[in-house]
Amino acid sequence: MPGKRRLLILAGDGIGPESMRQVRRVIDWLSRNRAVDFDIEEGLVGGAAYDVHGTPLTDATLDRAMRADAVLFGAVGGPKWDSVPFAKKPERGLLRLRKDLDLFANLRPAFLFDALLDASTLKPEIVRGLDLLIVRELTGGVYFGLPRGIETLPDGSRRGVNTQVYTTAEIDRVARVAFELAGKRRGKLCSVEKANVMESGQLWREEVQKLHDSSYPRIELSHMYADNCAMQLVRAPKQFDVILTDNLFGDLLSDCAAMLTGSLGMLPSASLGQADGSGRRRALYEPVHGSAPDIAGKDIANPLATVLSFAMMLRYSFDLEEDARLVERAVEAALNAGIRTADIMQPGKTPVSTTGMGDAVLRELDRLSAEPT
Ligand code: IPM
Ligand code: MG
Repeated sequence: MPGKRRLLILAGDGIGPESMRQVRRVIDWLSRNRAVDFDIEEGLVGGAAYDVHGTPLTDATLDRAMRADAVLFGAVGGPKWDSVPFAKKPERGLLRLRKDLDLFANLRPAFLFDALLDASTLKPEIVRGLDLLIVRELTGGVYFGLPRGIETLPDGSRRGVNTQVYTTAEIDRVARVAFELAGKRRGKLCSVEKANVMESGQLWREEVQKLHDSSYPRIELSHMYADNCAMQLVRAPKQFDVILTDNLFGDLLSDCAAMLTGSLGMLPSASLGQADGSGRRRALYEPVHGSAPDIAGKDIANPLATVLSFAMMLRYSFDLEEDARLVERAVEAALNAGIRTADIMQPGKTPVSTTGMGDAVLRELDRLSAEPT
């Protein structure tokens, strides 16, 4: 018997908590029906932590995240904290978690469920069968580079500074993750930067090419400028298998890729650290969407991205492939049954609340698990 799986849930702000409630129901279902059990702790992060502790992430919560086998994260931020000093903003809690847990590889898959083909703003033939994966570097680049800050110049005017910086080691470790994943998929990797304008991009390109030639010659590697990649994503997204890119370009391109699938409300992500001697990796799972304060607390948000993030956790942190597939199939079956939250609503379908979507997923879990295999 494996020991209990230690899971830290940080639901955060906005639609985070209400989406997480539906995941808790899925977790309870797995415990009842599949004997998949977790030792669950909960904590505050983002604005919710700031309101109580005056900081978006306490040292104690960070410490619990360090000791957990996996962290399941909701969302952070909202206009309520607009006037909070920069260093205490809700987003800083998430960024500190990423940095201090050293979660350098962010996996953002974009795939389209057939049932949602018409929910995309793009023509069906452009997105049918879409299945790509963005591997975003998550602990370096302009998000963390020094120097940074806002300074006042002698003439009284001000200057804002951020620094884009990458070392060969940082590029190498995230590129390895991307090559490995491409090897398990369709064997294609597109590395994205702005080598035409930025030295850090030139280094990125050279290092990725070097690693390819020395260790992954069988992967089909291409390089693309980030602006072209944004254009290609909406022009012909199915040309991509795995996209490898830096922190900032990955932030932009993953929102763009997510929307190809109809709604930001559908897409999960995993953020992984380096495997230790026993193969264990620190990991945090979170939906790609944000806290959506405009719809928070109304029970209308789409909880599926958080449910699917949990499925990624089953797969990557706990090696529970069969259970991960079961949860993903239940989500797909709920969509096939015409169940829709507002963000993916289409004519003739059945509109439901956040809780209603949770009900539908549980119903499909019951049904699928009763099927003879
Ligand atoms: C994301 C978000 C975050 C980021 C914010 C909330 C700090 O947009 O995960 O894509 O910029 O990385
Ligand atoms: Mg983003």
